[in-house]
Amino acid sequence: MIETRNVTKIYKLGDTDVIGAKEINLKIEEGEFLSIMGPSGSGKSTLLYLIGGLDKPTSGDVLIDGVNIVEMEERALCEVRRDKIGFIFQEFNLISTLTAIENTLVPLIPMGVSADEMERGMKLLESFDLKDRIDHLPGQLSGGQQQRVAIARALINEPEIVLADEPTGELDTKSGDELIQLMEEMNRREGVTFIIVTHDPVVSGKTRRTIFLQDGMIVKD
Ligand SMILES: Nc1ncnc2c1ncn2[C@@H]1O[C@H](COP(=O)(O)OP(=O)(O)OP(=O)(O)O)[C@@H](O)[C@H]1O
Ligand SMILES: [Mg+2]
Repeated sequence: MIETRNVTKIYKLGDTDVIGAKEINLKIEEGEFLSIMGPSGSGKSTLLYLIGGLDKPTSGDVLIDGVNIVEMEERALCEVRRDKIGFIFQEFNLISTLTAIENTLVPLIPMGVSADEMERGMKLLESFDLKDRIDHLPGQLSGGQQQRVAIARALINEPEIVLADEPTGELDTKSGDELIQLMEEMNRREGVTFIIVTHDPVVSGKTRRTIFLQDGMIVKD
């Protein structure tokens, strides 16, 4: 369902070229539960952004369900992201002036939120043990709770693929464990594909496949 073909990303910084990704060839099937590891600066976030269409490669192709998203116009790409992909970022990225339920519904706002979708948001928060926190602002939530809101937000559009950039990075061990467990459940129950960037061998130990990056290249799969 996800395929990269010779994907290379070079960042231009004045006269210097910085390699973010180098000739990445990757196939990820539907329903995989996969982690990406590698030292700082090895290109993990770069690869995640390229797969999610948040950034364009310098060369190479990225196919989602057989469609090359590299050639797409921003508008069409937006639709692919909205319909198929959910993102979880390292720093929660919740909007501080919106409540938990409002943050959960953010990806839907451009199209308007239906009563059914509102209901779905409530159910997601409920299933993440946030029933009593629905009207809380991020500042009134613990780190683990904020990250669970971020997962609810990533799942609100019923994506096929969830891309998570160090989702447990800011959490203590227990909250991190619970978070991975939630993702495992979504993977098992609903077949959502998860790609999880992590530094933590405990987290990668729970995934069925791990890709190791170094200097923008896959060194082990
Ligand atoms: N916008 C940018 N402009 C220039 N160079 C960049 C940019 N983003 C990333 N890089 C460089 O590309 C390389 C890969 O960065 P990336 O953020 O993908 O690494 P990472 O594996 O996610 O690291 P970390 O574990 O620290 O998050 C690094 O050398 C980084 O300095
Ligand atoms: Mg990173």
